[in-house]
Amino acid sequence: MKIAVAGGTGTAGHHVVTTARARGHEVVVLTRSTGIDLTTGAGLAKALAGVDVVVDAASVQTQSARASREFFGSITTNLLTAEKDAGVAHHIALSIVGSDLAPFGYYAGKALQEQRVEAGPIPWTILRATQFHEFARQIFGQFKVGPIALVPKMFSQPVAAREVGERLVDLAERAPSGHAPELAGPEVLRMSDMVRAYASAAGTPARILELPLPGGFGKALRDGTVTARAGAELGVQTYAQWVEQVRRARS
Ligand SMILES: NC(=O)c1ccc[n+]([C@@H]2O[C@H](COP(=O)([O-])OP(=O)(O)OC[C@H]3O[C@@H](n4cnc5c(N)ncnc54)[C@H](OP(=O)(O)O)[C@@H]3O)[C@@H](O)[C@H]2O)c1
Repeated sequence: MKIAVAGGTGTAGHHVVTTARARGHEVVVLTRSTGIDLTTGAGLAKALAGVDVVVDAASVQTQSARASREFFGSITTNLLTAEKDAGVAHHIALSIVGSDLAPFGYYAGKALQEQRVEAGPIPWTILRATQFHEFARQIFGQFKVGPIALVPKMFSQPVAAREVGERLVDLAERAPSGHAPELAGPEVLRMSDMVRAYASAAGTPARILELPLPGGFGKALRDGTVTARAGAELGVQTYAQWVEQVRRARS
C-alpha cells in the first residue's frame, strides 16, 4: 500500500512513517522539509500520485483559535482537493479527545478539521487521541520564564505517540470507518506532575507554576473533558515508563 503522511516528521507522524515502512508499505512524507507546504497545497498533486491512503498528522504551534482554524482549515481543504484529483481512497485525520466538546483555542482548528473531513469527498476515518507523553516536553519547552516553567492546570490521560502512530497504520490498512474508538493512555495524571517528572528525567529540573487558563478552554482542561470517554481504547505504555526512557537516553 502507498501511504502519504502529512506531518510525517512530527511527534506522532514519524511513528506513522517508521511503523508503515516496517510493515512493508511505501511511504511519502508531506512536510515543508520535504518541499510540500500544506497551507498552500504547493507540491501536493505530484506527491499524491499513486497514493492509496493519506494520514494527516500535521500540526501548528498556536493557542489562537483564529490561527488554528486558518491552519487546519486550509491544510484539510488542500489535502482533500488534491486527494480527489489523485484518486486517493481513504483520508485519515488525527484529532484530539475533547476537541468537539471544547472547540476553543487550538481545539477550534481541530473541530473545523473534523467538520471538513466529515463533509469532504474522500471516505474517511478520524482517530481522536489524548495528549501524548511527549506533550509534557512540548509544554516544558514552550512556556518558561527564567527558571520557572508555566504549566496549564490540566488533567490528562497521556498516551505514547508510538502507540498512536501504530494505531494510525492499523487504520490505514483497514477500510474507512468514520470515527474510530478514541485512543487514550492507561491513567489520568496532573499536567504539572507530568512536566516536573519530565524535567527531572531530562536533567533540567525546574520550578513548576501551575496556571488555570481562562474561559471554556481552561475549564475543559481542568474538568476532565480532554480525558477518555466511555468506549475509548487504552494504550499500554505508562507515563512513568516513558519518563524512564527519557532518563536512560540521557545517561
Ligand atoms: N501533541 C499531542 O499531545 C497531540 C495529542 C492528540 C492529537 N494530536 C494531534 O496530532 C497531530 C500531530 O501533532 P504533533 O504534536 O505530532 O505535531 P508536531 O510534532 O508539531 O509536528 C507537526 C508536523 O507538521 C508539519 N507541518 C507543519 N506545518 C506544515 C506545513 N505548512 N506544511 C507541511 N507540513 C507542515 C511539520 O513538519 P515541517 O515543520 O517540516 O513542515 C511536522 O512534521 C496534530 O493534528 C495534533 O492536533 C496531538
